[in-house]
Amino acid sequence: MSQRDQFISDLENFLEDQKEEGVQTLDISPETLVALKASTQKADQKPAAKPASPRPASSAAPPQSTVNVSGKTLEEIAGQIRVCSACPLCNSRKNTVPGEGNANRPDIMFIGEGPGADEDAQGRPFVGAAGQLLDKMIKAMGYQREEVFIANIVKCRPPGNRVPLPAEMDACLPWLRAQTALIQPKIIVALGKTAVQGLLHEEVAITRFRGTWCTYEGINLMPTYHPAYLLRSPGKKGEAWADLKAVLNNLGKEPPIKKG
Ligand code: URA
Ligand code: SF4
Repeated sequence: MSQRDQFISDLENFLEDQKEEGVQTLDISPETLVALKASTQKADQKPAAKPASPRPASSAAPPQSTVNVSGKTLEEIAGQIRVCSACPLCNSRKNTVPGEGNANRPDIMFIGEGPGADEDAQGRPFVGAAGQLLDKMIKAMGYQREEVFIANIVKCRPPGNRVPLPAEMDACLPWLRAQTALIQPKIIVALGKTAVQGLLHEEVAITRFRGTWCTYEGINLMPTYHPAYLLRSPGKKGEAWADLKAVLNNLGKEPPIKKG
């Protein structure tokens, strides 16, 4: 990638991040706008090549973690997570949130970013406002919450709900990897940019990356918007629904017909 393309890609990622954080406007000086316009006019118009599908995970070096998963069952792993101190998030947590649901080859495993205040208080994933929307999404697909598995990239709440740091996600990943290997979901749905980044080590703009099949540990993975983002940007629900319908289609299923 040329330096200019790299810059544009970085800028796009930055702007997508801002948008995901709810930032609606940016201050740009007239001089910058003129310079940007001149730069766009000079750029060649070649469209970027479409990546082959499904996308493989990036070939980045294996993540660093001191976690040693010896548990052979989900319960044993949850017990190990409860006393984990492999990253600084252990210092501020009230409870660990290992994840919950159908652990016997469910159709879908949803993976979010990390516990918020409600999840930290209860030790259960997606029980706050975002969780209520996730529950609706699961129902709309024709499932009960108990029929899918729900987990997060990090098992402990980042203070103030900040985004988990790459080092924290890397430290925690062996737990999720071991859980995934035991659970063997047919499809993983990664909720939001952070989940995609934590799993695939790809710096992505979720608005463009969503809806494109990837794989994690040999399992088909569909990236889509995080329900907390959908609460802030309800106009994006249609795109998320298209992603979930693609998941159902891949499973040979259709959404149930709504009654009433
Ligand atoms: N957001 C997440 O990413 N995970 C949760 O468990 C709750 C909210
Ligand atoms: Fe351990 Fe993960 Fe909690 Fe960090 S976030 S302390 S790695 S369980």
